Amino acid sequence: MKVIAFNGSSRKNGNTTILMNYVLGELQKEGIETEHFLLAGKEIHGCRACYQCAQNRDQRCAVGNDILNECIEKMLEADGIILGSPTYFADVSTEIKALIDRAGLVANVNGDMFKRKVGAAVVAVRRAGAVHVFSSINYFFFINQMIVPGSSYWNLGVGHDKGDVENDAEGIGTMKALGENMAWLLKKLQGEDHLLRVTDSVQRIRKGNV
Ligand SMILES: Cc1cc2nc3c(=O)[nH]c(=O)nc-3n(C[C@H](O)[C@H](O)[C@H](O)COP(=O)(O)O)c2cc1C
Repeated sequence: MKVIAFNGSSRKNGNTTILMNYVLGELQKEGIETEHFLLAGKEIHGCRACYQCAQNRDQRCAVGNDILNECIEKMLEADGIILGSPTYFADVSTEIKALIDRAGLVANVNGDMFKRKVGAAVVAVRRAGAVHVFSSINYFFFINQMIVPGSSYWNLGVGHDKGDVENDAEGIGTMKALGENMAWLLKKLQGEDHLLRVTDSVQRIRKGNV
């Protein structure tokens, strides 16, 4: 099982990274493979609304001059997807917005290709706007028919300067609970998936249709 975590913060080792690492730490404790992918410093553009993806239907964005298709490939192969963002003017960072818009449209025209993957948001904030960021990310998960675990609070940590979120004990607790719940959910879904495959095989054997 694998979880891919996209980090939309512009600051290396900033608050989003710290919060994300608490979530990923809990997943790793449960034996789940994780990848922490930083969008900062890489090229990722907004959607051009060319709708060529709807013509091609090849699970790719038709504009291939940046890292978006690499991100889509990582999302397709993962069982869980985390989108982490700082709060910028009460919304997600530009990089996360570009990922949401383009991966979202490609998923939509390819039959909801992230369906039943597990999704989670991680948000860093100085003071206000974080629940709106949390909502923006969750809208992406829900319209993609993804499954979203909860935590002990909405998934946010408070801090301004790099490292400040380490002082937000409640925020750290929220991230740890999120990681635990995400791991629990991933394992349940994997068990359910396995059961469905076994049931399907048994039915095919019974029908003599092996
Ligand atoms: C362009 C910009 C806009 C911001 N807008 C907000 C905001 O609307 N609300 C807020 O509480 N903090 C805002 N902040 C502060 C960051 O959300 C906060 O410092 C956060 O911890 C940064 O996370 P990072 O260390 O991962 O970059 C803003 C910061 C920047 C650079």
